[in-house]
Amino acid sequence: MSENLKEALVPIKKEIDELEIMLFELIGSEVSFVRTVADYILKNGGKRLRPILTVICAKMAGCVDKSVYKMAACIEYIHTASLLHDDVIDNAMLRRGQPSTNAKWGNHISVLVGDFFYSRASQLMIDQKNLKILDVVAKSTTATTEGEIFEIMKSSDVTTTQEDYLKIIKNKTAHLFATACQIGGIMSGVSDYFEKSFQEYGLNLGMAFQLADDVLDYTSSEDVFGKTKGVDLREGKLTLPLIRSMGRANEEEVQILKNAIIAESLDQETFTQVKDLIIRYDGFKDTQELARDYIVRAKESLSPFRASLEKDILLSLADYVVHRER
Ligand code: IPE
Ligand code: IPE
Ligand code: MG
Ligand code: MG
Repeated sequence: MSENLKEALVPIKKEIDELEIMLFELIGSEVSFVRTVADYILKNGGKRLRPILTVICAKMAGCVDKSVYKMAACIEYIHTASLLHDDVIDNAMLRRGQPSTNAKWGNHISVLVGDFFYSRASQLMIDQKNLKILDVVAKSTTATTEGEIFEIMKSSDVTTTQEDYLKIIKNKTAHLFATACQIGGIMSGVSDYFEKSFQEYGLNLGMAFQLADDVLDYTSSEDVFGKTKGVDLREGKLTLPLIRSMGRANEEEVQILKNAIIAESLDQETFTQVKDLIIRYDGFKDTQELARDYIVRAKESLSPFRASLEKDILLSLADYVVHRER
């Protein structure tokens, strides 16, 4: 957790500690190897942003009881499952500063433990005996999967547009952020109007989060980011920094970018060349600007809520998302 994030969350430290205990308690399996892998993933320092959002939104609108923690855990398990599958899809060897599950135990274990996390999340949802919760969360996992598939369809496609890209990130990332917040509201029994406001906040926050992540994929300090730099380019993913620069570069430069996108492997020199072109054509600057626009929208979505400690945390989290380094 970055210092800023830690600082912003101090007022709900008690709830975060409780959430942490529940995350380990609720995942239990009779199969000791599942437990080993689950512990490895859960202990290696995820930021817990999504379940924390569930807890904050629930608290903002009412109180946090055991069932709120269960739903927060459900959201984190769904996120964890998506990472376990995503690292296989992206051939990612590093997650949260440690070897990814696929790097350590192979793709088959990463996929199966991902399924285990999804299944445990389903059990937690069903325990609520609330069809609305099932509906909202099922739509969210469907969107994530569609986003990941659409991204694969667009892989190495140099005609990918900003519109395509925004559709991908809305589905693969922003939707779950929206659901995390919405579920907090539902658990506290808010009206449809406030539920929608929570959802809008989460969606805009999630868009900004992924935009920032796609800049960090090129610019981060790997030690802090905890993920390998350049995975997007290596995997032929056209994220916004690249899309924007492609639209502005001259013919010869566009050819350099295209070659890098479709190349079998990526050497350091080509990566630096592409990164320099993105800088020259304001690809990072534009992406960060768009992330900030989404943050403005996220904050606006909170305007129906009266002032509270929890609202202040949501506002700080919005600022954190675009300034984060991991
Ligand atoms: C990683 O999300 C996946 C993206 C949507 C970019 P996080 O950065 O929230 O992952 P952890 O849980 O903190 O590792
Ligand atoms: C994030 O995908 C969204 C999901 C995991 C569903 P990315 O591939 O962009 O995220 P990182 O960089 O692996 O965390
Ligand atoms: Mg990935
Ligand atoms: Mg991916």
